[in-house]
Amino acid sequence: MTFHPRYFLTTSALAVLMAMTPASAKTFRIAVGDGPGGTQEELGKAFIAALEEKSGGEHTGRLFLNGQLGDEQATVNDAAMGTLDMSILAINNVTPFSPTVGVLTLPYVILSVDDAEAITQGEIGQELIDNTIRDAGVRIIGWAYSGFRVLTNSKQPVETVDDLQGLVIRVPPNEIMIETYRSWGVDPTPLPWNETFTALQMKVVDGQDNPYMTNYAMKFDEVQTYVTNIRYIFSIEPLVVSEQVFQSLSPEEQQMVLDAGQEATAHSGRFIRERESEIKETLAERGMEITDPADGEAEFMERATTAVWPKFYDSVGGVEQINKVLAALGRDPVE
Ligand code: MLT
Repeated sequence: MTFHPRYFLTTSALAVLMAMTPASAKTFRIAVGDGPGGTQEELGKAFIAALEEKSGGEHTGRLFLNGQLGDEQATVNDAAMGTLDMSILAINNVTPFSPTVGVLTLPYVILSVDDAEAITQGEIGQELIDNTIRDAGVRIIGWAYSGFRVLTNSKQPVETVDDLQGLVIRVPPNEIMIETYRSWGVDPTPLPWNETFTALQMKVVDGQDNPYMTNYAMKFDEVQTYVTNIRYIFSIEPLVVSEQVFQSLSPEEQQMVLDAGQEATAHSGRFIRERESEIKETLAERGMEITDPADGEAEFMERATTAVWPKFYDSVGGVEQINKVLAALGRDPVE
């Protein structure tokens, strides 16, 4: 048999190509709810850089920002079905699929970035990861720390619970957050994340809450003027991988993905500490008027913790679970 020169060339080219791109090389598709410049994108970039470094360039990822691959809650379903590899989204948008992570969204539980790191990176964090695999079919492999969800609106300065009355506030479709606004006398409007900018722009709603970093990444300063520094939720935003996809990886690849997630988490803690005040100043320079709640936020806090916590004891794993979290944070238990 003689080799046809064209056939020979083609097979050599193919061989070179195959040597350059191993059959197992992967580019993970990563959905990102927010726009560029925020903590979600930063976590994603750090994850990809670490993964490339650990795999000697064999594996990488591609970020699809601004909800291009669908609303945050929809991406959990897609990942659970294995049609999406990964997603970076706010934890409040995981809670409907995995109720025990609601402990991270209960008002005034997580009171600082240190608290957020202590809980997510400790024993409780590992339990939440296991529960989320079981309940939602996705595995949390990294955490972004995004800061407190401050309240923004386009109508008036808000310093007290009274000032909130009459405002139409968008919340994520999340029962804990809905009940929190109800405890403040407001019936909020649940809306998916990817509809929020337009709803604010069209004045279908007057306001919403999200961290400074997120308000910046979403350009909310273009449609919102007043900011109130409430601290009811410290936003934690996980990177999740489809459990089906994770299980299809070799043990070595799984370990690389887990290690890259851990490095990205550490990076996120540094990023929020370095960047948040600068971003807050930028938003103020762009015209956002920032106020603190009156009376050190006491009324907001008192109403929310008294009315909301007991309603969710069962879904987050019992009052014992809340007390476990409070103990890990060095705080007193509830009765
Ligand atoms: C939401 O408000 O739905 C989310 O917290 C937004 C986000 O992922 O940044």
